[in-house]
Amino acid sequence: MTSSQRPTTYRIAWLPGDGIGREVTEPALAVLDAVAEAHGFFLDVGEHAMGGCAIDATGVPLPDATREACMAADAVFMGAVGGPAWDDQPPETRPERGLLALRRLLGTFANLRPVSVPKTLAGASPLRREIVAGTDLLIVRELTGGIYFGEPRGTVEEAGEGGHTESVSFNTMRYTDAEIERIARVGFEWARRRGRRVTSVDKANVLDVSRRWRALVSEIGASEYPDVHLDHLYVDNAAMQLVRNPRGFDVVLTSNLFGDILSDLAATLPGSLGLLPSASLGAPNQQRCVGLFEPVHGSAPDLAGQGVANPLAAILSGAMLFDALDRPEAAAAVRSGVTGALDAGYRTADLAGHGPTAVTTEAMARCVSQYALRAPSRASLVVE
Ligand code: IPM
Ligand code: MN
Repeated sequence: MTSSQRPTTYRIAWLPGDGIGREVTEPALAVLDAVAEAHGFFLDVGEHAMGGCAIDATGVPLPDATREACMAADAVFMGAVGGPAWDDQPPETRPERGLLALRRLLGTFANLRPVSVPKTLAGASPLRREIVAGTDLLIVRELTGGIYFGEPRGTVEEAGEGGHTESVSFNTMRYTDAEIERIARVGFEWARRRGRRVTSVDKANVLDVSRRWRALVSEIGASEYPDVHLDHLYVDNAAMQLVRNPRGFDVVLTSNLFGDILSDLAATLPGSLGLLPSASLGAPNQQRCVGLFEPVHGSAPDLAGQGVANPLAAILSGAMLFDALDRPEAAAAVRSGVTGALDAGYRTADLAGHGPTAVTTEAMARCVSQYALRAPSRASLVVE
């Protein structure tokens, strides 16, 4: 597609959500707006309620109006949901349920979570510099199946021993072959664009669903991607290896729950969860699939309202959004802005440590804008 055929305006459904969600996505959107304009296109941003704020306003975490706006958008840009105020909500109306419903609604089964450690940040990691420096991996997490959604689920009363009834609670880890196969292909395709290695993570020594996962991933690897090196790790071992030797990974392919856990673990590598972006995408051949772009971090209610949160995860999620809209130059400019700001020594409180004085969320984002606009041609610098 030539640039002249691409749209010049994209509709973005903005769901700031709860806690620091708005604080990080609002300045991130300012960066995205500025970069878009510099590259000859525009973002038409509409704000919608999701999560705890939506519960307060409408009684439900994902109101119909928000659903419709997301379905009609070109992309959804989200902050974070949840917080102590809604912890006592019944399960059906918890803020997190809104996010899960949205992922299902959009059909975004493939969650991409890149983890890289920029040279300038290797010292910020709690792990030794020589272990983390040069880390560049991509977690491909299945996002709309597995134990997050499996039925049956719930709590029931059952007849227990001695005639008493007892409460029993359960969830179901469940994958169809088709669900495993489509996420496996996403993992292999990404490996082809990167280092041609896939590590599939499961618990095949214990779980039936994992045995099937492993068999299908092996089959697809052998028949469709013989050029990609595949190995398998049990999830417990994968957790250890990610900390011991993160550079040993290229694409980590895994299920919903394991991917959730491993991506927080991987966030310790660059030293802050405030750095990790994500993109949730549907099938590439689907006629129209709206992607969901959000930082990996949560709503961090303890930080909210202080202007100290790190906006880089949100900003880098914006770079992934530009990639999905087929605007790679704008995506590269955003990443180059982030690298420029970090190289120049700017840090929010999460990364400032004992070094330079921390800047505010807004100042960090402004700084990214400046570097992004200054050097739009310095491409893909965050991954080193
Ligand atoms: C994430 C979050 C969500 C998840 C929660 C908020 C439902 O932890 O995106 O990693 O578990 O998927
Ligand atoms: Mn998580």
